Amino acid sequence: MQIARTHAQLIEARAALTARMQGGVALVPTMGALHEGHISLVRAARAAGFQVIASIFVNPTQFGPGEDFARYPRDESADCAMLAAAGCGAVWLPDVATMYPPDAATAIEVAGPALLWEGALRPGHFRGVATVVATLFGQVRPDSAWFGAKDWQQVQVIRRMVRDLLLPVAIKTAPTWRDVDGLAMSSRNRYLSAEDRARAPTLFRTLEAVQARLHQGDPLGPTLAAGRADLDMAGLAVDYLALVDEKTLQPLDRIAPDARLIAAARLGSTRLLDNLAL
Ligand code: PAJ
Repeated sequence: MQIARTHAQLIEARAALTARMQGGVALVPTMGALHEGHISLVRAARAAGFQVIASIFVNPTQFGPGEDFARYPRDESADCAMLAAAGCGAVWLPDVATMYPPDAATAIEVAGPALLWEGALRPGHFRGVATVVATLFGQVRPDSAWFGAKDWQQVQVIRRMVRDLLLPVAIKTAPTWRDVDGLAMSSRNRYLSAEDRARAPTLFRTLEAVQARLHQGDPLGPTLAAGRADLDMAGLAVDYLALVDEKTLQPLDRIAPDARLIAAARLGSTRLLDNLAL
């Protein structure tokens, strides 16, 4: 696996990958502290016949003031070992000045699916995500880019950006990878105390329970209220639990074919996100 730290090295690594091997180039953007969820994206892209370039960049512009940018977990050598073992061809490790030259004057602001939920709770978050992802697309020039369904709203924001700007990259989504008890894997799970880690799967269990009740025909409002109460009881502070249109993220008032249940809750200082198709 080749390691690129400068744009020139990246161009060289990309050229070497495409010269030696068949298949287009897939980008798997990450912020590192990799786990099986990230690696499942690399495997999915490999299985689809792509040469994979993973990026690791803890993107300062998508963290709000008071968020965990400074203490976000970083473990470059373990990350590179996992990527190599999964068949990743190259890893792109830019520094902040490479991603954001001091005279950079452009940012990408997506409205629509970026406005509610995470967008409302974390002002500027999706602007940071869209800008860094567009920059990565410009640097890596991938044929496809792979994102996890775990961050459902993020995928919709990126799809909308790509559609609106006609960016020549196919956006692919891979399923949420979970621990055996159902908790969606996340780099931030390592912040959880043992006690909070034991409570954390309640988020997924609650989504499943809400999904089951809605399938049975229970009314939406009371079912969501019961779900919020269950989370509360388990000590999870609910930011939202909602039924939304899977693309626009607009709240729905009844079950529809393209409905998605989305949830975010806090356990101590750690936020957990999850979602489920209906
Ligand atoms: P990060 O949180 O490191 O996640 C990188 C990618 O891995 C995202 O597409 C995310 O949805 C996916 N992922 C994380 N946990 C997953 C799981 N349990 N199952 C499946 N996929 C999972 O998301 C970001 O970084 C950043 O916002 C980024 C897109 C890299 C832009 O900075």
